[in-house]
Amino acid sequence: MPKANKKILVIHGPNLNLLGRREVSVYGKVNLEAINKQLKKLAAELGVALEIRQSNHEGQIVDLIGASFKKYSAILINPAAYTHTSVAIRDAVAAVSIPTVEVHLSNIYSREEFRHTSLISGVARGQICGFGIESYLLGLRAAVALIKQ
Ligand code: DQA
Repeated sequence: MPKANKKILVIHGPNLNLLGRREVSVYGKVNLEAINKQLKKLAAELGVALEIRQSNHEGQIVDLIGASFKKYSAILINPAAYTHTSVAIRDAVAAVSIPTVEVHLSNIYSREEFRHTSLISGVARGQICGFGIESYLLGLRAAVALIKQ
């Protein structure tokens, strides 16, 4: 297995700690632990290291992104509800200029209208949504591809 010298910061936003119990008809039965386990497995296969964080607090997410400067080669983020509201998280992503991939479990464009706008996507390198846990795994592959570019 290749030595992981590139590190990716994975950020799970608010309420994602409740996955598995939360709106199962939308998000499925998979919990955050299972997502993280699969992410770690794929990261090992792709030869990158992960730092994984979950926070329900906007300011904490802003701090995490702000502190990522020069520490991480890419960011994989599911900003959850803050996707649709947070200028502060958008500005933090723009400030650090680390390639960022935005992911969502659900297809935000087939849901309520207020979810159709992402304030993050304009500063992310790309967005993947609608594939459940696969959104995260595809997102990780995209982040690794960006690092290798
Ligand atoms: C979500 C979609 C958001 O609209 C919602 O607020 C979430 C989860 C997703 O992964 O599908 O909390 O980001």
